Amino acid sequence: MCGQRVQIFGFVHRCRQQRKDLIVVLRDGTGFLQCVLSGVLCQTSEALTLTTESSVCIYGTVCFFLFNLFTRVGRDRLNVSFIFSYGGSFFFFLFSFFTRRREYRSHPPLLFTLNQVNKPPKRKTAPGGVELVADFWTLIHGAPPGGIDNVLNAEANSDVNLDNRHLCIRGENCSEILRIRAAVTRAIREHFYSRKYVEVCPPTLVQTQVEGSSTFFSIDFFGEQAYLTQSSQLYLETCISSLGDCYCIAQSYRAEKSRTSRHLAENSHVEAECPFITFEELMNKIEDLVSDVVERVLSDPEVSKLILQRWKTSKKKFPSFKRPFLRMTYADAIEWLRKNNVNNKEGKPFNFGEFIPQGSGRQMLDTIGQPILLNRFPAGTKASRCEDEDMNTSRCEDEEGKKKNLTESVNFLLPGIGKVVGGSMRIWKEKEILEAFKITNVDPKHYYWYVDQRKYGGCPHGGFGLELERFVCWLANQDHIRDVCLYPRFIGRCAP
Ligand code: 4AD
Repeated sequence: MCGQRVQIFGFVHRCRQQRKDLIVVLRDGTGFLQCVLSGVLCQTSEALTLTTESSVCIYGTVCFFLFNLFTRVGRDRLNVSFIFSYGGSFFFFLFSFFTRRREYRSHPPLLFTLNQVNKPPKRKTAPGGVELVADFWTLIHGAPPGGIDNVLNAEANSDVNLDNRHLCIRGENCSEILRIRAAVTRAIREHFYSRKYVEVCPPTLVQTQVEGSSTFFSIDFFGEQAYLTQSSQLYLETCISSLGDCYCIAQSYRAEKSRTSRHLAENSHVEAECPFITFEELMNKIEDLVSDVVERVLSDPEVSKLILQRWKTSKKKFPSFKRPFLRMTYADAIEWLRKNNVNNKEGKPFNFGEFIPQGSGRQMLDTIGQPILLNRFPAGTKASRCEDEDMNTSRCEDEEGKKKNLTESVNFLLPGIGKVVGGSMRIWKEKEILEAFKITNVDPKHYYWYVDQRKYGGCPHGGFGLELERFVCWLANQDHIRDVCLYPRFIGRCAP
């Protein structure tokens, strides 16, 4: 590529005057490239008023960064601008002209994306990289004076940043996170594909509840009462008889009033459902998904570089994902909290049946310091994973097959984040599900299709839901879940 004359399009990411040159760092979504505009090129009114985020088209010759640096330093010192500013590129141009004459005859120069020119994509042009010595350029669209710094600068608080999320995502940090998120989503799809799951696309406008009526978003659906879905679980359950193992990546909605660093009103939910499995197999599947996805993501050198760099700068240790993950029952967790003097809200030791709040759970998790599959929550108590868990979660059985007061439920917890996956085995017999509806005050009217699943060839089955933003938040070592959303939705924020 060095010595080749190319045409590139991009947005001005940064620009600065350096002595008599204009140094422009271009961005086009594929990468970044430093371009040097010298002589008359940087003396036009468009060059003198060029601002960040303007879009441009530049023609020029690709040169080694070090070589140009040398010629520019030399030029500045000796003040013979023309010869030295083009010295490096001219040398390469001549060299390439004779070695690649055929390419040069093709006119106009070939159009390249920035990562094709600057391989591998670099965050900043560094010694050893390449830069473009421009010989012609045009302004496609000029951004206002001051560029993006008018809006997003050191004084911008979190509300200003959120109001201008559409501009924030152009930044290096935000766009890196979006890339990591895309890599995670791709790895999840690859995982499920490799395990022969079928992807489906359930509706998000529904008339049924899954995870408790207190977090419903109600809507008027042409005069009928409807809701934004909290989970696609019930719909996935209807697919297992025809498709076997299946999954979806869909939006879920919770009218969550808490403004925490872990809660959203709209989140991307990765859910799966599998027929003919046991509770142990369900936990194996969660473990397989998480560890395989981490492995797949880290096997991409570019993405792994982005992720590991984030962990390195924060000086946190990237956790080990050795299988099997630690499996801890709810009863063991209560025991652990008592032994380690972690008390409940009243400052008293925890008792079996009590809900383990986020703070105490995090304390336990961060002390243990490894991923945990916390399982078998007690039924019919506040300790259940959610208020309507008893609506469809099956009970554990003892050796004689008698139902215990524990549910076949599991939460997958990650240190530093907390719960990332919730899953359970489902009540699969018609009579039992109707009884459970009665106990939990669920009107079966809107659930006839769900009950039919248990009428026409029911089978033991289970599934889980992984909250994508929490998972990406953990992997990208971000503090706040909002930072990993394209446009986060939470109480008080529904725009842009
Ligand atoms: O544990 P949850 O409620 O499980 C379900 O929704 C099941 N029906 C899934 C299934 O079995 N198919 O939620 C799944 C994940 C958990 O990690 C939970 O913490 C997270 O979603 N979650 C939220 N994440 C961000 N913001 C919110 N408001 C969330 N509510 C739940």
